Amino acid sequence: MKNILVIGSTGQIGSELTMELRKRYGNEHVVAGYIPGAEPKGDLKDSGPMGIADVTDGETIGKIVKEYKVDTIYNLAALLSVVAESKPALAWKIGIDGLWNVLEVARTYGCAVFTPSSIGSFGVSTPHVKTPQDTIQRPSTMYGVTKVTTELLSDYYYVKYGVDTRSVRFPGIISYKTLPGGGTTDYAVDIYYAAVRGTKFVAPVKAGTYMDMMYMPDALNAAIQLMEADAVRLKHRNAFNIASMSFDPEGIYQAIKKYVPDFEMGYDIDPLKQAIADSWPDCMDDTCAREEWGWKPHYDLDAMTKDMLEKLRVKLSK
Ligand code: SER
Repeated sequence: MKNILVIGSTGQIGSELTMELRKRYGNEHVVAGYIPGAEPKGDLKDSGPMGIADVTDGETIGKIVKEYKVDTIYNLAALLSVVAESKPALAWKIGIDGLWNVLEVARTYGCAVFTPSSIGSFGVSTPHVKTPQDTIQRPSTMYGVTKVTTELLSDYYYVKYGVDTRSVRFPGIISYKTLPGGGTTDYAVDIYYAAVRGTKFVAPVKAGTYMDMMYMPDALNAAIQLMEADAVRLKHRNAFNIASMSFDPEGIYQAIKKYVPDFEMGYDIDPLKQAIADSWPDCMDDTCAREEWGWKPHYDLDAMTKDMLEKLRVKLSK
């Protein structure tokens, strides 16, 4: 990776991935792609180049790729699971028509492409415990439909045209910088804000609802490490299971309570979120990622909780 374009640079993952890539590859080598109305601000804006990169308009992507001699694209444009259920046509337009545009640009200019898949690419008929790398993927959400299609289309472009596509199935991602929006796993971010603000948290899914989750630094490492991996070792491409922790609302509540003893939590179940969460794995088996490119997470629930609380206390006191 020499010159990189991050599409969706102002989103939850994009805002931190862009800064991490700039740290590793040099500010001038990482372009923050955005859509009008979601312009980069602060450090993201000041630390390096930026440009309009709208996946629904392939020309905007091609222009940046040409201008900055981009060789690697991180395509993070997507709607999350809950919001995609209320806007399925838009989810498809961004997730799949948009991906098509990105892959066509990559084919033309010889770029490698990373487009995340998700735990949402699985469905009720998937084995939920130690979900294998290669297994049944029959999701019932539009988010899941777009993610399975993302995996297939990305593999297709690799096999048919030799485009270097690679991807991981991200768990729910927890971070303190930019909020996620409209996902089923968002509660695992919101709960930390409640703990630091001293308010009671209301969980939207039942106790016993386990999902894979991951702290942002591990997610960023995964995305970068996979794109740097030796292609010869990759038996899979789109997309690798990666895992670091799995918990239910009780588990994360108890982890926070260790540091915030008077923190309170209740439940008010959101039927859509519950149905989506029930269709996703409890925990994935990430052996292939470990074997093929050396994936290894650094944060477990306790280490993440300690760091999240520390960082959020500073952020919310400003
Ligand atoms: N975080 C996503 C969601 O909840 C799952 O990948 O929609």
